[in-house]
Amino acid sequence: AVCGQHGWLVTYNSLQICALKGSTVKIRCDYKYPDYLNDKKTTVQERFWFTKYINVDLRTDPEYSNRVQYHCRNKVCNLTITDLRESDSAEYKFRFITNHVYGKYTGSPGVTLSVTELQIIVRRLTRSSACTELTCHSDCQLPDSVSYIWFKNKERLIGEKKHFRLWSSGTADRFHCALEGYEQFPSPAVYAPKDLFVSVYPSGEIKENSSVTLTCTSDANPAAKYTWYKKHGNQGFKQLSEKPQHVFSSIKSSDSGVYYCTAENDLRNSTSSGLEIDVKYLPKSSSVSVSPSGPIEEGKPLSLTCSSDANPAASYTWYKDNKLLSGFKHVHYVAFMTSKDRGNYLCMSKNQFGQLNSSSLFVDVLYAPKLPSVSMSPSGEIVEGSSVTLTCSSDANPAADYTWYKQDEKSPKASGQSFTINNITHHHSGNYYCKVQNRMGHKSSTIQVAVASGKVSLPTLIYTSDHHQVSM
Ligand SMILES: *[C@@H]1O[C@H](CO)[C@@H](O)[C@H](O)[C@H]1NC(C)=O
Ligand SMILES: *[C@@H]1O[C@H](CO)[C@@H](O)[C@H](O)[C@H]1NC(C)=O
Ligand SMILES: *[C@@H]1O[C@H](CO)[C@@H](O)[C@H](O)[C@H]1NC(C)=O
Ligand SMILES: *[C@@H]1O[C@H](CO)[C@@H](O)[C@H](O)[C@H]1NC(C)=O
Repeated sequence: AVCGQHGWLVTYNSLQICALKGSTVKIRCDYKYPDYLNDKKTTVQERFWFTKYINVDLRTDPEYSNRVQYHCRNKVCNLTITDLRESDSAEYKFRFITNHVYGKYTGSPGVTLSVTELQIIVRRLTRSSACTELTCHSDCQLPDSVSYIWFKNKERLIGEKKHFRLWSSGTADRFHCALEGYEQFPSPAVYAPKDLFVSVYPSGEIKENSSVTLTCTSDANPAAKYTWYKKHGNQGFKQLSEKPQHVFSSIKSSDSGVYYCTAENDLRNSTSSGLEIDVKYLPKSSSVSVSPSGPIEEGKPLSLTCSSDANPAASYTWYKDNKLLSGFKHVHYVAFMTSKDRGNYLCMSKNQFGQLNSSSLFVDVLYAPKLPSVSMSPSGEIVEGSSVTLTCSSDANPAADYTWYKQDEKSPKASGQSFTINNITHHHSGNYYCKVQNRMGHKSSTIQVAVASGKVSLPTLIYTSDHHQVSM
């Protein structure tokens, strides 16, 4: 390449250079200046290479520090850059300055350097089979004569070309390619996803309705594609998002379960260990069941069981007729039921997120009549010819039958809770008893009826015309 004017000239050996990352490039440069300057008085005062800014010598640029050398002698000034980086890709120009007033010159256009790295392109040949083709690629136009070398886990593979077919790869296998003669500048490794890591945010307890994000990361080259799955039953998996993150904007209790992530690239896919998600929620249901069902006989045992759907499991509190019962077990057990145990029961299920009452359940207890109480109206001594009513009452479940008897008489006098004797005579005097009976048993109580015999003279009040009260 020749660029010059009026005898000024800078010649580079090539205007386009492609070089491998890490390697060293040498750029040759020859320069000339016109003859009329070619006397003893003309001297070259400065000669240097630059890239970004004219007048900034590459050797002073910190990005190139210790990587740039000039080899200048007899109108030749070669540039060497070692340990090439991709950021070194740029146009490089040579400039020299003489002691002549206009004696400055830059060789333009300069040398365009592109620094690239070898890349392995991975392609799965068929979806189903494990056959993968690796291609060693360079952005530089490489001569056909170039030879490729492949490495598997740093060991050189024999007889491979630009393309390399792989039938199966172990989980930890790493592949590199390089150019023959440039083995020290290999491509970056390609490898199947490894170090698969799953995490859940926020960490700690997961509460229903909160927002939860599952994240899957791995180290893979080429970059992995991620898929989230949820375990269903013993064998099945349900596919969720095909993204590294799976987001529940409002998580439900049914989202509890075990989650897996698959990271896949064309070399292989790898599956994470299970991530268990346990969604906590307040009691959703609360109900009481009873054993035995139906009315229960006095003296028999009873058990009431409270069940609820809650996470974490609920603790239970029992109420009878709105009064707290002691004990916090999910079964409320009574060994011997009594009439006092009859009533409405409910249980309250509670965890740290809330509480829920069951609907109330009525427990009926069957019991024999209690000792009846009997009364007489009017009370006291009865006057012949008047009437008297005896009343009997007893607590019983089911409702009891009442029967009245007179002592020493076999046949009952009456039935029903009250018994009225009209037009009473002294023959009616005696002990009466009331027998109260239901299918659970019977009880009796006695009352004495005393009828005064003969005519009883009660004081009579007579009013006279002069309003004097006279007793007769
Ligand atoms: C400059 O590079 C050329 C070609 O590589 C070489 O022949 C020459 O000796 C070099 N000159 C100096 C001064 O290093
Ligand atoms: C791995 O990837 C292949 C191709 O996509 C797919 O057929 C296979 O089911 C995947 N294996 C797992 C465990 O996900
Ligand atoms: C979640 O939302 C549902 C519907 O709004 C509500 O019934 C439930 O109590 C909420 N759960 C929690 C733990 O707040
Ligand atoms: C549950 O029932 C008990 C007893 O009747 C009552 O004191 C309490 O307030 C109820 N709780 C709720 C949340 O309804």
